[in-house]
Amino acid sequence: MSDIENIKTEIEAQIAGAPDIKTLDEVRVAALGKKGRITELLKTLGAMPMEERIEFGKKINVVKAALEANIAAKKQELETKLLNEKLKNEVIDVTLPCRPEVQGRIHPVSKVYEELVAIFAEMGFEVAEGPDIEDQFHNFNALNTPPNHPARQMQDTFYVNNDVTKEFDLDSAYVVRTQTSSVQIRTMEKKQPPIRIIAPGRTYRSDYDATHTPMFHQIEGLVVDKTTTLAHLKGCLYDVMKAFFEVDELPVRFRPSYFPFTEPSAEMDIGCLKTKTELKIGAGTDWLEILGCGMVHPNVLRSCGIDPEEYQGFAFGMGMDRLAMLKYGIPDLRTFFESDVRWLKNYGFTALDFSSMTSGLSNNGGLAR
Ligand code: DAH
Repeated sequence: MSDIENIKTEIEAQIAGAPDIKTLDEVRVAALGKKGRITELLKTLGAMPMEERIEFGKKINVVKAALEANIAAKKQELETKLLNEKLKNEVIDVTLPCRPEVQGRIHPVSKVYEELVAIFAEMGFEVAEGPDIEDQFHNFNALNTPPNHPARQMQDTFYVNNDVTKEFDLDSAYVVRTQTSSVQIRTMEKKQPPIRIIAPGRTYRSDYDATHTPMFHQIEGLVVDKTTTLAHLKGCLYDVMKAFFEVDELPVRFRPSYFPFTEPSAEMDIGCLKTKTELKIGAGTDWLEILGCGMVHPNVLRSCGIDPEEYQGFAFGMGMDRLAMLKYGIPDLRTFFESDVRWLKNYGFTALDFSSMTSGLSNNGGLAR
């Protein structure tokens, strides 16, 4: 009997002395594992006479339970110690100024995103969101683009099978949204006018060259109210472009165009000077196409339960990557998404360059170049 007490004392000493969780686990296996000392003792029970077996069995089970509790307590203690050490070592002094050489960079698209949100927020726009994977109703049908409408071919759509247990079916398939215009629909479904939103986000089309990537970024705008006119559209976009390109004078022109969800539709160009080595926005006699826009088609309002006799609106959509290329002189869109740190160091912005309408949008002084 005293033998088992001795074993207990011995194992308890080992538990108490275990410096880490690994050693503790070794102690546990050596005592309570399949071939552990206590387990081996338990195995001898079968060969004992009945009375002895009961008494010894009790004792050994009490010892076993005590050791288990002991191990669990020690484990907890070691874990707490480990955590405390980790917390102590990983402490960050938030009062230290950051070191420029280890600072990350803000991607030019994120920068343009922030700049546009700052501009539109000051004009009273809210930011709206929608899903990247859309149904065809929100991406096309409700935007006055029913199946077989020729305008569907304007966009090289990626379709997504929405039910993996079934064969792909083009009619019911989802799409990865080809345009942020889908957020117009999602907004109008939820909210009655007056509406004034922008919807920046990712969009997808099967296209790849220096100015196209399969994933790109658009920003959509939608204003719906009782007295919204084409003049509001023009004034709004003119102010936005001047603020965005940070120029006092900006020639603009609106060319008639076609989009199924607007009537009339237009494309907006901004004046620029193109030389072999330079592109200067706001001067010269050349034109750059910058966005699509128009007055919201009555069918679009109707498909969202808004009465076009009472309300009208304007909408616009533009490519944020393209805006970044133009504003920050980046020649190839594909490089945006290659995740090359050298590129980001060159074209990115420091985290402290906060965009605001009062402190400045791009803070060119803070440009990481
Ligand atoms: N969704 C269009 C595209 O991807 C852009 C666009 C044009 C959006 C006119 C609009 C608009 O809201 O009114 O090409």
